[in-house]
Amino acid sequence: MASQEEVFKKMVSHCKEYGFVFPSSDIYDGLAAVYDYGQMGVELKNNIKKYWWDSMVLLHENIVGVDAAIFMHPTTWKASGHVDAFNDPLIDNRDSKKRYRADVLIEELIAKYDEKIEKEVEKAAKRFGDKFDAEMFKTTNPRVLEYAAKRDEIHDRYKKAMNANDLAELKQIILDYEIVCPISGTRNWTDVRQFNLMFTTEIGSTADGTSKIYLRPETAQGIFVNYLNIQKTGRMRIPFGIAQIGKAFRNEIVARQFIFRMREFEQMEMQFFIKPGTEMDWFAHWKQFRLKWHKALGLGDAKYRFHDHDKLAHYANAATDIEFEMPFGFKEVEGIHSRTNFDLSQHAKYSGKKIEYFDPETNESYTPYVIETSIGVDRMFLSIMCAAYNEEALENGETRVVLNLPPVLAPVKAAILPLVKKDGLPEKAREIMDGLKFDFKCVYDEKDSIGKRYRRQDAVGTPFCITIDHDTLNDGCVTLRYRDTMKQDRVKIEELHALIDAQVNMKNLYKKLLAE
Ligand code: GAP
Repeated sequence: MASQEEVFKKMVSHCKEYGFVFPSSDIYDGLAAVYDYGQMGVELKNNIKKYWWDSMVLLHENIVGVDAAIFMHPTTWKASGHVDAFNDPLIDNRDSKKRYRADVLIEELIAKYDEKIEKEVEKAAKRFGDKFDAEMFKTTNPRVLEYAAKRDEIHDRYKKAMNANDLAELKQIILDYEIVCPISGTRNWTDVRQFNLMFTTEIGSTADGTSKIYLRPETAQGIFVNYLNIQKTGRMRIPFGIAQIGKAFRNEIVARQFIFRMREFEQMEMQFFIKPGTEMDWFAHWKQFRLKWHKALGLGDAKYRFHDHDKLAHYANAATDIEFEMPFGFKEVEGIHSRTNFDLSQHAKYSGKKIEYFDPETNESYTPYVIETSIGVDRMFLSIMCAAYNEEALENGETRVVLNLPPVLAPVKAAILPLVKKDGLPEKAREIMDGLKFDFKCVYDEKDSIGKRYRRQDAVGTPFCITIDHDTLNDGCVTLRYRDTMKQDRVKIEELHALIDAQVNMKNLYKKLLAE
């Protein structure tokens, strides 16, 4: 069986081969950690964005949207703390000349101990069979206990060092636990230094003089600086939220794992403005709602978990990640942060404007607290592709590559396939397509054998194939083939719309989200 790593590599090539994701400026050999979405990718991405936007803005009367500019007044980033504190601790290996994030090197070491523990558990489970009690084994087996103790020891030191911004201690941990450079295999490390992740550029013509501005590293600040505008013009009453989807830019030191860590990416963020003192209740509320949003897609509940932060960002008093099980481990897809009134207070201080909320019920003014939900579109895309990519062994010995995408997100909902290119079948097929195309993204394909055409659609995750044959002209029925089961049903043309709609209409997900 192929390893997780091999399957991941194949999924990445699949993304390129079938028009989902290309390296940016591919003809010039790409640009590190920057990607373009192709004809299939853009549809999947748009569907993810629609699912998010509607779940936030359509389903919540008290959440409205905004589309703020990427360029912002440079003081924004001073006020938000990004100029001073949006740093990663970097370390170089003198032999390979490769640059790493010191925190990532240590986190990877901690993860290795977790993997060792899991391997011991798996081995023992095989040995003991049905009677095996994994929890008991983990708390009594000497080797597992030794690994767990080591992991906890490193974790404690790491957590303290990160919270204290102690760069010398981070280096010492790397030296003490003999972390080597994966390229050179040596421990010839430089000191750890801070590296600011914001990209800068200049605005204005040379005649007028130019000033340095930043490409936004998060979309959130575009919401904060519009808080007053939207609260006043929308007559919003607390609690209320502002949602935004847009590009963000970070000069990531370690850009790896395909679209997991990019230098240009897209975020879907919502800031929920609340009364101070209610933040822990709202934090719990949004944690549950967002997890429900992920799980409603049906990729498997066991693939998600919460991970509470060890080191809180400079603005947060509580934070958790929703992690998804990727082939390279559980990884953050979404962050949920209780941001206090940090951002609004800072903007009030730096702008000199009064940024508050007047509560008409209590006649008091206060600076609202904020709960933020922040998810990366690209990371969500990656998690879906990882879960959906499937190499299926068929009974006839062949392998079928199929994307088991949630039908609501699939780029194409139905493929319209006349069995042959003559005898009036293409015309009938076009007629059927005309009846469906205003509601569902359809493709028409008359080239190659029907088997090949089915495979092409499996590879891009099309949930339905509709085959038009000679009988169709007489009985008004078509063959409807289902992607996941490959089952084929003979159905009336008039039934197609309802059958497809039942699977691909996002309304079904929205109802699930609103159900208790
Ligand atoms: N406003 C809060 C904020 O930006 P974050 O945890 O830094 O928080 C939120 O980012 C989400 O944005 C992450 O959970 C991730 O999905 C996505 N994200 C962050 N950096 C990314 C990168 N370099 N490439 C792709 N996605 C990224």
